[in-house]
Amino acid sequence: MSDYPVQDNPARRRFELLVDGEVGALATYHVRDGAIMILHTETAPAMQGRGLASELARQTLDQLRERGDRVIPSCPFFAHYIAEHPEYADLVAR
Ligand SMILES: CC(C)(COP(=O)(O)OP(=O)(O)OC[C@H]1O[C@@H](n2cnc3c(N)ncnc32)[C@H](O)[C@@H]1OP(=O)(O)O)[C@@H](O)C(=O)NCCC(=O)NCCS
Repeated sequence: MSDYPVQDNPARRRFELLVDGEVGALATYHVRDGAIMILHTETAPAMQGRGLASELARQTLDQLRERGDRVIPSCPFFAHYIAEHPEYADLVAR
């Protein structure tokens, strides 16, 4: 299990990566046509450059796959992550 768990927070429509129980990075989304549209990714300024957003993307995409959901990577960070990790390309909604 990762040291940094990622959870969906549907009330706030965002996936959250927790660092010591606090939100260290998050990805906001809309649900659109049955797919999850990732809008924006953000890492707390003091924690940037440590791979947290990449870990958030990895676990978020794994959870979407497990749920049988598709993703629309509107956020440039997620689009970049999927381009670098083609094993997730099949999750992208056409
Ligand atoms: C972009 C951001 C989320 C990256 O967070 P982080 O935890 O430092 O990221 P990581 O250390 O996991 O990953 C760094 C990777 O993100 C890439 N990256 C950084 N900024 C990016 C951007 N705006 N768009 C796409 N990719 C970006 C880097 O090139 C690097 O890629 P690599 O792993 O292939 O070298 C963070 O810098 C941030 O919160 N920025 C302010 C908000 C923002 O601009 N969000 C992006 C648009 S949605």
